Amino acid sequence: NSARLYLKVKTFNSELQKEVKKATTKLRANNERLQMMADRLAVANDKLRKLDNAKSEFISIASHQLRTPLTAIKGFVSLLLEGSYGKISAEVKRVLNEVYTSNERLIELVEDLLNISRIESGRIEYNFEEVDLKKLCQEIMDTFVIRSKEKHLKLALDLPSDSLPEVLTDRNKIREVISNLVDNALKYTPKGWVKIKVVKIKNDVQISITDTGIGINKKEFPFLFSKFSRGKDINRINVGGTGLGLYVSRKIVEDLHGKIWVESRGENQGATCFVELPIKLKTK
Ligand SMILES: Nc1ncnc2c1ncn2[C@@H]1O[C@H](COP(=O)(O)OP(=O)(O)OP(=O)(O)O)[C@@H](O)[C@H]1O
Ligand SMILES: [Mg+2]
Repeated sequence: NSARLYLKVKTFNSELQKEVKKATTKLRANNERLQMMADRLAVANDKLRKLDNAKSEFISIASHQLRTPLTAIKGFVSLLLEGSYGKISAEVKRVLNEVYTSNERLIELVEDLLNISRIESGRIEYNFEEVDLKKLCQEIMDTFVIRSKEKHLKLALDLPSDSLPEVLTDRNKIREVISNLVDNALKYTPKGWVKIKVVKIKNDVQISITDTGIGINKKEFPFLFSKFSRGKDINRINVGGTGLGLYVSRKIVEDLHGKIWVESRGENQGATCFVELPIKLKTK
């Protein structure tokens, strides 16, 4: 009896071993397949990364190449407008002004594209220094005075009366961000005013740009900061744009450890864009 039992256990055991072996083989095969798939994914990933780099590289090179002739056009048109090549009629002056404006727009676009390729390849470089944001906002405002007058918009600057601590940040990059926001405010405001305000809030300096323009629908909020995205509201007025300003601005502000956001009570209620920068960079 016990011999029979022993035999039974033995058979069972060998059956079990066979099963385990089968399962192990299967597992191993599965494992190998997974490994193969992982390898293939890694190769595909690598290819994608290379393609992406190539694309960024292309944009970067193309933009650089575009910048030189565009700058030359700007220079020559300026000279023509100044009368360096002889007196020009009012009609020609008007046309040249159009050329100048369109060219400026192209230069901005190229600058944006360059920024994007720098951002996406992680090659954007920051130079931190102590920046007086009150002074910077004054300078930025000065560059927009003519444009606001042309559109009959009131441009105001609201600075705190007491002195503001300097902020450790990148002056040129912040100038670009604020300029983008003021550009938007003026662009999307058919009538009324635009105000640049600077305040200190706890450990941050907050800059806000408020306008009385077409406003932004809440539904648009999640998309405004995406690449090439333009709001639907802009269909109500006829203005050009690429949808890169806010995308680039957000990247910059986040790299500078700040925050950027937009508020609006809705259609035709104007909008406010906020930028908040830490006064002292948090040490990591
Ligand atoms: N002050 C504002 N008032 C109303 N809408 C705004 C305002 N600022 C931005 N927007 C909306 O956000 C969108 C994205 O702005 P963004 O600056 O990124 O692009 P853009 O102004 O269309 O083009 P670009 O800045 O590249 O010339 C705009 O198309 C517009 O719909
Ligand atoms: Mg813009």
